[in-house]
Amino acid sequence: MLIRRAKEIASSEITPKETLRAFQRSRRELLAGLGAVAGAALLPTEAWAFDKLNVTENNKYVVNETVTPQAKAQSYNNFYEFGTSKSDPAANAKKFRTRPWTIRVEGLVKKPQTLDLDAVMKLRPMEQRVYRFRCVEAWSMVIPWDGYSLAELVKTVEPLPSAKYVQFLSLADRQEMQLPGGYDWPYSEGLRMDEAMHPLTLLTFGSYGETLANQQGAPVRVIVPWKYGFKSAKSIVKIRFTDKQPSTTWNDLAPQEYGFYSNVNPYVDHPRWSQAHERRLDSSNSLFPRTIPTQPFNGYGNEVAGLYAGMDLKKYY
Ligand code: MTE
Repeated sequence: MLIRRAKEIASSEITPKETLRAFQRSRRELLAGLGAVAGAALLPTEAWAFDKLNVTENNKYVVNETVTPQAKAQSYNNFYEFGTSKSDPAANAKKFRTRPWTIRVEGLVKKPQTLDLDAVMKLRPMEQRVYRFRCVEAWSMVIPWDGYSLAELVKTVEPLPSAKYVQFLSLADRQEMQLPGGYDWPYSEGLRMDEAMHPLTLLTFGSYGETLANQQGAPVRVIVPWKYGFKSAKSIVKIRFTDKQPSTTWNDLAPQEYGFYSNVNPYVDHPRWSQAHERRLDSSNSLFPRTIPTQPFNGYGNEVAGLYAGMDLKKYY
């Protein structure tokens, strides 16, 4: 497993600009025009086979919008460990080993521990919640995610009062993943403690009532529905509680484009494109996805705007 921080790597090994260019190229390809997104509508609608999960629908978290077909949600993914184009993860993650799997919980907690995934899955009954999911790249989906509130797991490890942030680290394993060069893997994301403890933040084991597809971040990821998709770290192996804002992958790569907060905000443009609209990928047959206005906090403002009261959201983007 590759867990090396930047300081341990000779500067000759680091080519963040090249990686960034490669990553940005893949993003540009998508955004080159409607044609690129229309292409997404034509992606293969291959269905994968997964284990059924025992889930109860949570009627509090429903979205009265068309649910994205499962095959599309599982064919059009960002998971850079498996390649930088949207079809790479589904193609390259087929043999990804998701068992045995442990999650190390450490840092500013009373009870640091290594947890077996199957035990974590049984910790609380699983719910299905239909959430909007919006990528910073301006496409969005509506997906039934399966899991339980991350807060339920956090409570069991008893964070210390000094814990102000939670960092999520994804697996980085050269034997299992491509891990494109130039970036100091693992993928890292972070939340403020109150964001992590918000009931909407879902520790996610499945979607559509089945275990996650490898390309979706199997066997466990987070979903933070009021934030851009990149906050939702996949294939998590470590959860670390800290008193300082943790470094996060996209913020490290392009701080001027991807802030720590990543609140879906139609009033703050990305430096290279508007955030006011999104292309909804909601039907496997539509050639031209519908363009709809983006809602502040992705439509979850009533629940979460209070977390950011008094903050300048242009500064904390
Ligand atoms: N997590 C890891 N480990 N690696 C990644 O490249 N990409 C992020 C996020 N989590 C990413 C990740 C981005 S940019 C997005 S938009 C979402 O995953 C995509 O999630 P999806 O495949 O469910 O659409």
